[in-house]
Amino acid sequence: MLKKCLLDAIMILGGGAGLCALVGMVQGNEKMYREFIMPAAQRCLDAETAHRLSIRLLSLGLVPRARHLDSSILETDVFGHKFSNPLGMAAGFDKHAEVPDALFGLGFGFVEVGSVTPKAQPGNAQPRLFRLSQDQAIINRFGFNSDGCAAVRQRLQARTGIQDALSKEGRLLGINLGKNKDSEDPVMDYVTGIQILGPLADYVVINVSSPNTPGLRDLQVAKQLRIILTKVIEARDSLGSNSNRRPLIFLKISPDLSLQDQADIAQVTMELNVDGLIVSNTTVSRPASLVSPNCNEVGGLSGPPLRDLSTKAVREMYILTKGCVPIIGVGGITSGADAMEKIKAGASLVQVYTALVYHGPPLLNKIKHELEDLLRQDGFVSVTEAVGADHRRTADIMESAQKSGNNQLDNVLSI
Ligand code: FNR
Repeated sequence: MLKKCLLDAIMILGGGAGLCALVGMVQGNEKMYREFIMPAAQRCLDAETAHRLSIRLLSLGLVPRARHLDSSILETDVFGHKFSNPLGMAAGFDKHAEVPDALFGLGFGFVEVGSVTPKAQPGNAQPRLFRLSQDQAIINRFGFNSDGCAAVRQRLQARTGIQDALSKEGRLLGINLGKNKDSEDPVMDYVTGIQILGPLADYVVINVSSPNTPGLRDLQVAKQLRIILTKVIEARDSLGSNSNRRPLIFLKISPDLSLQDQADIAQVTMELNVDGLIVSNTTVSRPASLVSPNCNEVGGLSGPPLRDLSTKAVREMYILTKGCVPIIGVGGITSGADAMEKIKAGASLVQVYTALVYHGPPLLNKIKHELEDLLRQDGFVSVTEAVGADHRRTADIMESAQKSGNNQLDNVLSI
């Protein structure tokens, strides 16, 4: 009898806890996700299995949807497009374009799928995704596991009408392109990506900055970059007027570049009229502050330990491009304050990935609300007004430095 009572109690309590978790999960309770659901998932599942499960849950609609319309202060115009809010899903989460609509449903202003390679390829051997829980960070060495352009095109073609409507209401789709590991002609890989997927995207990203494909980051050298971007822009321009979209072209760069490399990239970007920069990808550096056991795994590090490095790169690229090339800032954003910091450093839009792994989808609303409050507190009437605010003073100093003939790169950047 006692045993039965105990079992009943366990069932009721267990069921109650399960029910609470389910309600919290669907309702999008931020604390419930941060303190209960995400840590529990991390205890039970290895990182890659947890990632596959989250794609599955998104595809089944078992995640909280954004319940409020974005406030008008978050609305922003960049690249001639309206964005309902400046927060985007970074590349690498939905590599194969399986759940873009579910991601828009969470409240993102734009979603970037990929990286997609021309041919399908398996990527590196597992394990290749590592949590650094104490640092709230991740190291990955996926190496462009991809279903390939044809499969991704098929998925996205099935929803072109949906994307047309979303784009009109300020929710844009980006497709991030990579190259195949065994490719002997990387330029042709990016051109193929544009030809197959360009007509389905609002913007396409040339990703030459992932650390996990041998030789990829060497393509960031100016000479190589000029060849790739020239061909890619030609391919985009010849997509023809009967294609759905004529995508913008963005370049995604590493946070580990030298100042000279950054200056060369800025030069090429402006010379060829590349539409925007994404700053930055993961880092191969390992800050001394890391404490997690996995911190010496090979691969790209993301999350809070990357934040300052990527903000510094945003700031430098904004100066080097004279504020003329819109920048999407990404790396270690976990709060409205982090987003605001990137915006004031020069980012017109921002993206997140790693923080979602630790905080779950409700983090998105939290960041948006915090950002709204910070914009109002600082007296900005829009995101656009805050972009590059840190540089207003710097711009004056640069002008007087140039007038006095002192336009040394290091001097300008050290202001
Ligand atoms: C990534 N990122 C990435 N970037 C890219 O251009 N193509 C890709 O395929 C991937 N893949 C990928 C996988 C995983 C598991 C992670 C964590 C990251 C990099 C990502 O888009 C972003 O630039 C960095 O993660 C920095 O942002 P967060 O994660 O610190 O917000």
